[in-house]
Amino acid sequence: MINFFFKTYGCQANVADSEGLASFLKSIGCNDVTSEEEADVVIVNTCAVREKAEQKLYTYLGRLCIMKKSKQFMKIGVIGCVASYKRDEIYKRFDLINFVYGAKEDYKVLESYLADLIVKLETTKQVFDDSGVVIEPAKNQDRDIKKVVQQGPSLLKPSRMMGSMGIFKRQATSKSITTRSKELNRSFINIMTGCNKFCAYCIVPFTRGREVSYPMQEIIDRVAHDVANGSKEVTLIGQNVNSYKDPETGFMFSELLRRVAALEGKFWVRWVSPHPQDMTVELFDVIAQYPDRIPPYVHFPLQAGSNAVLELMKRNYTIEQFKEQIGWLRTRMPDAVISTDIIVGFPGETEEDFEQTMKAIEEIRFDWIYSFNYSPRKHTLASRTMEDDIPQEVKSRRLDRLQSCQIEIGAEVYTKHVGRVYEVLVEKRFNDGKLLARTPGNVRVLLEGPDSLIDSFVLVRILASSPVNLTAELVQAELTPEVPMAAV
Ligand code: SAH
Ligand code: SF4
Ligand code: F3S
Repeated sequence: MINFFFKTYGCQANVADSEGLASFLKSIGCNDVTSEEEADVVIVNTCAVREKAEQKLYTYLGRLCIMKKSKQFMKIGVIGCVASYKRDEIYKRFDLINFVYGAKEDYKVLESYLADLIVKLETTKQVFDDSGVVIEPAKNQDRDIKKVVQQGPSLLKPSRMMGSMGIFKRQATSKSITTRSKELNRSFINIMTGCNKFCAYCIVPFTRGREVSYPMQEIIDRVAHDVANGSKEVTLIGQNVNSYKDPETGFMFSELLRRVAALEGKFWVRWVSPHPQDMTVELFDVIAQYPDRIPPYVHFPLQAGSNAVLELMKRNYTIEQFKEQIGWLRTRMPDAVISTDIIVGFPGETEEDFEQTMKAIEEIRFDWIYSFNYSPRKHTLASRTMEDDIPQEVKSRRLDRLQSCQIEIGAEVYTKHVGRVYEVLVEKRFNDGKLLARTPGNVRVLLEGPDSLIDSFVLVRILASSPVNLTAELVQAELTPEVPMAAV
């Protein structure tokens, strides 16, 4: 049996792609393992959004290549966003890497390729196990996967093997994996891919291509299918999830969300990653209408508090409009949990501009923020036309100030949960032995309890808070009906 391992960097879209490919590999008899050392095939799913993420990737690939020297039949593949724009460079720099396949490309072709690779690898591994001999050179790169697939008729055609779930064939199934410890049964569903917004700093439109939305009915069928199979949390994913538009009916994201929320069963629907431009009143109305189904958590990426910087970034909104939208959300759901993304040190960002970001954070009081130093990325408008003129130490100082300020805000915002009773969804056993769960607002909760609570909704009372966690005690277990109610 062939063992495979995925190393996944980056956003939820990558998580969904990796899980989709993993479920394909399992469907053809491969085994999912929890470490590189046990794996015959390692697939690295990459992120190009910041320089740092890419650097980490190269260090990791170096490690894998060293590992391959003592296990020469091992196959290493690189997929995702870095693979989209640095394919040749990766092949050149790491000659022990077998294949590189970008995020924009057709994953059905990749599945065909993987099916053949697995069949061949089974023989190679068998011979190696029996005789210690490697029957092919460690360095055998398949530089053009499409050509390989066209040339050699696939031994196993994925389309014949996987039923008829249309575009979702390759996406994550919610089944838990036998070799792993018990975890929440959740599913990640790509509802659209790509981006047409071209924010000046961002490489995503170049690595993922233009926006494509998938048919609404297929998405709804997929959610119903996963919920019927025990999924407790369904995450709808897209680089611009709320610019979704059904290619068949023209219905927008709010309608899709409404229809998904109206399905039967006990489950939560989450959605990432949105853009403020498409945050509409209708969308917030739908969320408010289904409080038990669509938890009141919204990621609302601001990026900067200064209108001058927002304009240079090409974000298409002003801070005033952004605050107005936050108002639409908070009038409907006063307790909504809101997170954001902030970039500091964008080209031309003055001290005054940065102060505007600080002011926005203090006024809006996000529950948490993801914050980054600006990192110039190839192909982007900013890297082509603007000088990266804010010195590293200024960027770091600004980032520190922002993060310290948010720690104070977070500490205050989190204390409001203490004493409350929430229905939480238990995800897994955490490092320190506690169970990790999340409130509807997506806030992390640690609690004591048995493994049997994993993958169920339970009632807890919040006892204490820190800027990143809540701790809680169990009030009532097993709110989840044993048999999912959704019709297939
Ligand atoms: N589609 C999502 C963003 C994906 S990238 C959205 O529009 O929100 C996630 C975050 O990474 C962005 O929100 C931004 O804050 C950050 N980011 C993207 N490009 C960056 C860059 N070049 N330098 C620093 N941070 C960046
Ligand atoms: Fe990048 Fe902007 Fe598109 Fe988000 S909306 S993926 S930040 S270009
Ligand atoms: Fe990274 Fe690609 Fe997602 S660049 S953030 S993995 S779309």
